[in-house]
Amino acid sequence: MSQWRIPADQLPGQNDGNEPSGDSGRQSTATAQRSTRLGEELEGLVYRFHQRLIDELEAEKLEAMPPDKRRQAVQEAVKALLARESLNALVRDAVATRVVDEVVGLGPIEPLLHDSSISEVMVNAPDEVYFERDGIMYQSDVRFRDVDHVMQIVERIIAPLGRRVDESSPMVDARLADGSRVNVIIPPLAPKSPTMTIRKFLRSKLTMDDLVSVGTLSSEVGQFLGACVELRTNILVSGGTGTGKTTLLNAVSAFIPDSERIVTIEDPLELQLQQPHVISLEARPPNVDGRGEVTQRELLRNTLRMRPDRILIGEVRGGEAFDMLNAMNTGHEGSLSTIHSNSPRDALARLENMVLMANLDLPVRAIREQISSALHLVLQIARFRDGGRRITHVTEVAGMEGQIVTLQDIFRFEQKGIDENGRILGQLQATGIRPSFAEGFEQAGIALPEGLFQNVVEW
Ligand SMILES: Nc1ncnc2c1ncn2[C@@H]1O[C@H](COP(=O)(O)OP(=O)(O)O)[C@@H](O)[C@H]1O
Ligand SMILES: [Mg+2]
Repeated sequence: MSQWRIPADQLPGQNDGNEPSGDSGRQSTATAQRSTRLGEELEGLVYRFHQRLIDELEAEKLEAMPPDKRRQAVQEAVKALLARESLNALVRDAVATRVVDEVVGLGPIEPLLHDSSISEVMVNAPDEVYFERDGIMYQSDVRFRDVDHVMQIVERIIAPLGRRVDESSPMVDARLADGSRVNVIIPPLAPKSPTMTIRKFLRSKLTMDDLVSVGTLSSEVGQFLGACVELRTNILVSGGTGTGKTTLLNAVSAFIPDSERIVTIEDPLELQLQQPHVISLEARPPNVDGRGEVTQRELLRNTLRMRPDRILIGEVRGGEAFDMLNAMNTGHEGSLSTIHSNSPRDALARLENMVLMANLDLPVRAIREQISSALHLVLQIARFRDGGRRITHVTEVAGMEGQIVTLQDIFRFEQKGIDENGRILGQLQATGIRPSFAEGFEQAGIALPEGLFQNVVEW
């Protein structure tokens, strides 16, 4: 990252970012060239010292050590090695850190993985590494020496997990020790280079208040969603990849009372519930021999025997959709899940498809009836051009009309314009329609903001 950028006296700053990709105007060409050259020089030094260290270190002794001891031993060896060199102190520190990362860490991308403001790290090629911060993609100055170097780090990541990647299995999904997810695809499927996508597991999830303050939804709609959870409505969060579905589900889940027994089903684990009584289940992919797979669907079926008060499914993707609707229809109200789709209507179509795939002999009408009686709300979330995530629709699943499930928007995002910084202006507005379950709030004694569902025209 930027420790490989000028100026040299700022080395080895690890936590500051880089200009957004495509925003080269903010960095002069001369500076950029110098930065690249410096990066290459440093990488050259790192490589040289790494090689020398390999000769000096006793690999087997190192392997036998526990990870923290190992890092320490390598650090000391690197220090001793570099002490003999006439290097500027800052460069020496930078090289030392990088060599240690090379021996016991994940090489050049280690600082990106440690930077808690970075949510995603993407290695497309040795000299093409991107990262995402606050929803915006940046090109990093991090570079690998060559394709083999990328491959070494790929293997470093997946080998301890008992996974392998080679010509016969050129695509791998795995989880790092810290919970981050990694996807690897190698040549010839990705002809240019082994390609790695790391979705980091972020420890601190955004709360409903955070989401309100970043403008994902209004505080009134936040209160409404909280009330819906209390009322045990079944809610599906719909959105594209990385739009913030899981984050929203997690925030909404905070309104589940502490007294309830919650079972979560995920693939992979991501949710961080605050309640004391939570059981987290995680699906398991097949092992190298293609055996041992446990699907979300199987977990869900098992969950029904675990006396859950609430069932949360991180994301419905397949046959579990059928069992989820069944559960929602048979006493497991208040279930929450997410689905990958681009509109509330699309979400239902996908759900229908998933059920159909799992039960080819079910008539479509029966599936739709099930969907319409099981689901109460679809929350559509989207990532806008300015990087902001906003709820665009809060939609009620209102029933059936003929063969069609009826949907009605309770709130919709209305864009008003764009400010001078390119930020999209607008807000979630009531459409004027009251959800059909609104009476339930009064009966349950749940207070809602005055005039919440009224469509107030602004002047
Ligand atoms: N409302 C939001 N505003 C800003 N960033 C968000 C928001 N929701 C999620 N994020 C960030 O976006 C990334 C993806 O979020 P996630 O909830 O995992 O998305 P999804 O489940 O849709 O793939 C995370 O890094 C998360 O911190
Ligand atoms: Mg998700």
